[in-house]
Amino acid sequence: MEARKDLLDIESLTMEEISYVLDNAAPMKQLFTRSVKKVPVLRGKNVLSLFYENSTRTSSSFEVAAKRLSADVTEFSVSTSSVKKGESLLDTIETLQAMRCDYIVIRHSQAGVPGVVAKHTRASVLNAGDGHHAHPTQALLDAFTFREKFPEVAGRRVVIVGDVEHSRVARSTSRLFHRLGIDVAVLGPSTLIPDARPDHMKRLRSWEEVFDWRPDAVYMLRVQLERQEGQFFPDIPEYHGLYGMNSARLEQVRKLGAYLMHPGPVNRGVEVTDEAMQYERSLISEQVENGIAVRMAVLHWLKPNTGGSAL
Ligand code: CP
Repeated sequence: MEARKDLLDIESLTMEEISYVLDNAAPMKQLFTRSVKKVPVLRGKNVLSLFYENSTRTSSSFEVAAKRLSADVTEFSVSTSSVKKGESLLDTIETLQAMRCDYIVIRHSQAGVPGVVAKHTRASVLNAGDGHHAHPTQALLDAFTFREKFPEVAGRRVVIVGDVEHSRVARSTSRLFHRLGIDVAVLGPSTLIPDARPDHMKRLRSWEEVFDWRPDAVYMLRVQLERQEGQFFPDIPEYHGLYGMNSARLEQVRKLGAYLMHPGPVNRGVEVTDEAMQYERSLISEQVENGIAVRMAVLHWLKPNTGGSAL
């Protein structure tokens, strides 16, 4: 498979590229059970981690992935950087470019920023989430996790529940699931389900409709208060009552034998109860573990234009 320079979204990947990454994440995951978990494939390369928005899973997962491939990782601390003195994004990138990093992992609150950065640097740019737009490695790790449970994914069903409107995860994961032949439905308050949603998002109106549809996985989304300009539902208890994964709904999910997914971070008591977090078919921890394997596969595949000889 020919390498590409950047990973910016799911749409720009071919099916062959998607299969290549998902297939290569499996041997990466096998490394985790070895006493020595590192391989030297990115020795001498450096990865710059540039998070303009908070992150736990994605930033640490990329860091672990890069280190397991023997790359050096530099964390650029936005909160203590010259960004706080008014430096523009492009000036920051130019400064970082002078340091000759090979990979830039970037998260930004504005959609499109990773694409702009990619045009201005020879480094490979990996989109770690940009505004409402895209979170491609989350989608790939979700697909990898689902495929571990259902090797034949085509015709399987996944319902995505909650704040679809503000969710880059819903956008990227639903797009990828659809491309893999998985049927995708959405449930949530009308205010948080986009009217102009893609055709592949089947709209369900109630939990009864969800259970009648018989999903193989229920994918709960975080309520993204930080992206909501205005009030999209009366209050959190009402949201939880109408859309949260509570005991009664968990029992129905259990009867179906369906899996529970969530990209994290989880707001306990909002979209998922403590009890649901303990559900025996919850894939939430597996999603986190698989995120490292998938990001290793992506880093291994991308090819920066930084050139240079080995010495
Ligand atoms: N799933 C996800 O993007 O989590 P973080 O915000 O913790 O990176």
